[in-house]
Amino acid sequence: MIQKGAHEQPVSAGGGTELFHVIGPRVCERRLLDELCDLTTRVRTVAKSRAGARFLQDLLPDRRAMFYFTQPSTRTFLSFNNACHILGIRTSEIRDPSTSSEVKGEGFEDSIRTFSSYVDVIIMRTREPGRAAQAAWLMDTIARPVPVINAGSGSDQHPTQALLDIYTLDRSFSQRGGIDGKVIGMMGDLKRGRTVRSLCYLMKNYFDVRLVFIAPEQFAMQNDVKSHLEEHGIPFTETEQLGKVLPELDALYVTRMQLEWDKADESRAVDFSRFSVGAKELGMLKPEGIIMHPLPRGPELDPAVDTDPRAMYWRQERNGMWMRAAVLLKIFRLESRIQSLDLEAFAAQDGDIPLVS
Ligand code: NCD
Repeated sequence: MIQKGAHEQPVSAGGGTELFHVIGPRVCERRLLDELCDLTTRVRTVAKSRAGARFLQDLLPDRRAMFYFTQPSTRTFLSFNNACHILGIRTSEIRDPSTSSEVKGEGFEDSIRTFSSYVDVIIMRTREPGRAAQAAWLMDTIARPVPVINAGSGSDQHPTQALLDIYTLDRSFSQRGGIDGKVIGMMGDLKRGRTVRSLCYLMKNYFDVRLVFIAPEQFAMQNDVKSHLEEHGIPFTETEQLGKVLPELDALYVTRMQLEWDKADESRAVDFSRFSVGAKELGMLKPEGIIMHPLPRGPELDPAVDTDPRAMYWRQERNGMWMRAAVLLKIFRLESRIQSLDLEAFAAQDGDIPLVS
C-alpha cells in the first residue's frame, strides 16, 4: 500500500519486474532496468519497418492516456505523446489548469479521480513535488485505479528521464562493458536539477561506478542524494573545477541552471560560465567519453559541441520516446509480445521502405 504524501514510491508493485505506478527511481532493480533497456532496443528495432510500425500500433489501440502537465514541457510531453501513438494509445491532455475545473475550486484529488474515470493511465508533471505520489496513493484507494507516471515532480524527481539516461549510458558503453566500472560526471545546478537527482538513485544498480559532482558550492548535490550514495557504497567526489576531473570521465552529464526555482535571484550571484562545455573542454574529454544533457540547454552547452561524435544528447532525447514506449508496454503487460518476436524474421518479411530508426 502506498503511503499518502510520500515522494518516493515503488515503481514495481509486486517485487518482480512488473510496473504499475512509476513515481520514483529508488526501488528500481537492475533486473527491471536491464529488461527495460532490452525492450527499448526491441521497440526501436521493430519500429524501423512499416510492418513493424503497424504491429506496434495494434498493440494498445483500446487504451487511453491522459497527460496532466501543469508545468512547461517539450521533450517529456512530446516523447510520451509519441510513445503512445507508436503503440496505438489514444491521448487527451490538460496542460493549462485554467482550462480545467480547478478554477472552479475543484481539488487536486477530485481532478485526478475524474481523469482516471476516462483513461487507463495518467502521465503527469507538476511544479510541486509529491503530487504524482499523492495521485498514486489516491488511485490505490479507489475501485478503478489507473497507473500514474511521474513525468517530473518539482525539483525533486524525474524517474522516466533517469530511465532514458540509463538506456543512453548503457548503449553508449555497450562495447565497453556497459555502465559498470564507469566514471560519470554530473555538472551544473545539481541542487535543483531533478534529472541528475533521479539518475543518482539508479546508480546503486551498477558495479564500481564512481560519480563526480561538478557544481558551484551554492548549487551542490543535496544531502538526501549523498546519503543514499553513501548508504549504497557508491563513491563520489565534489569539485568546482571541471578541468581537473574531465580527463578521467567516461560520461559528462551537463545540466542547466534552474533559474525558475530562484527565490531572490540567487543564481545571478554565481559565475556559471565555469560549468560549461565547448571546444576547449571537448579537447580534454577521452576519445570514447560522451556528453549528455537532458535539454533544454542554456549557455552551458555550446552548440559547437553538437557535431562531435561524443555528443549524445540528441540521441538521448530520441531514446526517451523509445524508453517511454517500453515503460508503457510494461505497465500494460505486453512486453512478452515484443520479447517473443524474431526481429530478423520480422524485418525480412517486410517489403516496405524501412523507416528511420
Ligand atoms: C528536464 C526537466 O524538465 O527536468 N527536461 C526534460 O525533461 N528533458 C531538464 C531541465 O528542464 O533542465
